[in-house]
Amino acid sequence: MESTKVQLSEKDMPRQWYNLAADLPRPPLPPLGPDGNPVSPDMLAPVFPMNLIEQEVSADRWIDIPDEILQILALWRPSPLYRARRLEQLLDTPARIYYKNEGVSPPGSHKPNTAVAQAWYNKQFGIERLTTETGAGQWGSALSFACALIGLECKVFMVRISFDQKPYRRLMMETWGATCVPSPSEETNAGRDVLARMPDTPGSLGIAISEAIEAAVTDTGGKTRYSLGSVLNHVLLHQTIIGLEAKKQLELAGEKKVDTVIGCCGGGSNFAGLAFPFVADKIAGAEIAIIPVEPTSCPTMTRAPYSYDHGDTAEMTPLLPMHTLGHAFVPPPIHAGGLRYHGMAPLVSLAIVEGLMEPRAYHQLECYESAVTWARTEGFISAPETSHAIAAVIDEAKKAKEEGKEKVILFNWSGHGLMDLTGYEAYFAGKLVDYPLPEKELSESLESIKNLPKPAYAKEK
Ligand SMILES: Cc1ncc(COP(=O)(O)O)c(C=O)c1O
Repeated sequence: MESTKVQLSEKDMPRQWYNLAADLPRPPLPPLGPDGNPVSPDMLAPVFPMNLIEQEVSADRWIDIPDEILQILALWRPSPLYRARRLEQLLDTPARIYYKNEGVSPPGSHKPNTAVAQAWYNKQFGIERLTTETGAGQWGSALSFACALIGLECKVFMVRISFDQKPYRRLMMETWGATCVPSPSEETNAGRDVLARMPDTPGSLGIAISEAIEAAVTDTGGKTRYSLGSVLNHVLLHQTIIGLEAKKQLELAGEKKVDTVIGCCGGGSNFAGLAFPFVADKIAGAEIAIIPVEPTSCPTMTRAPYSYDHGDTAEMTPLLPMHTLGHAFVPPPIHAGGLRYHGMAPLVSLAIVEGLMEPRAYHQLECYESAVTWARTEGFISAPETSHAIAAVIDEAKKAKEEGKEKVILFNWSGHGLMDLTGYEAYFAGKLVDYPLPEKELSESLESIKNLPKPAYAKEK
């Protein structure tokens, strides 16, 4: 029998996270405050606990994973590395396609890798309650799950369109003991302000982030902090356990070299988690194509400038150096809710600027078509976000066939879509359309960053 998956034992779990900041050709640029000066760790203290702020600014290459965190991750980690033999057969490709199955976690995606770590560090710091936002609902479920196991209260602001489309995600959060409200809500100044201007808005991650931060920093007791599911350095750091496991597993599968690494990108965390340990190899001279994938309706990496911008709509966060569509951007309501974010992780953005990655955008319909092909060959039903990675994998496997090359393709199967079937239903009913972002909307949206500083590494146009 040919082997389908490579399993590591619990004792083979990586004991350290990998920090790409230590190896990038130029050091990451600092976030800026409203006065244009770099923000000091102290300025972030009302929002995050100091132990996570230290990770956020760390330049250390390796950071130890506390045993208590590993103990919880061991509920589903190490995640299996699969070989997609049936898809290879269907495509008749000489490529060998491998994927990390991050859908095996209790909430169903990669998100708990950082949710557990963040909840643990907050608890260590004496925090009692976390607030957060969620798009697709995967992050909100992940943090709810982590808070339940670690013993913290959790409040989730869920982007309204997902709240309406995904009632079962809300129920999952409630089952884990969290509170979930649709965003924009009447509970915060940021939410009330948006509702007054746009009562019918589908919401956006940028708005929900503003609400969650406001809810954390206005808690006068000082025992509430905010938790972000993507974008920031420490979040990407916690996800690198995926790529580190994958390296060991590929070796066990007998692979000496990886040619192509692929992941879908919302804020960049699952992609970075898989890809960063391979980016290190690329910096050291290995030839690897590293491909982050996004929707054409929210083309942050492929069409937006590298600029300083706020991470949220109400301009509460510091300015981050990143590819951004502008913080006022309200993306069209495509079904991949987790990919509807105006910005991109600063570390992923910088790696793109340094030419270490080749971002790509796909239309919604091609992604659903790929996800259906996947379900009918590999069996698993993918999250709509993950389907973007699958579309790119299929293209790369076809290219390998055209070129007659035996390539090794590795990608992150970031989550299952069992709570996302309304999207599949709309696709089967022919109700979904492609929505490449019109140039006019893009330039209108970029107005909001016109006067913000440009990072030193930005290329002059
Ligand atoms: C299954 C899944 N994959 C990918 C993403 C995109 O987020 P990120 O780019 O941070 O991995 C999400 C976000 O909600 C998700 O739920």
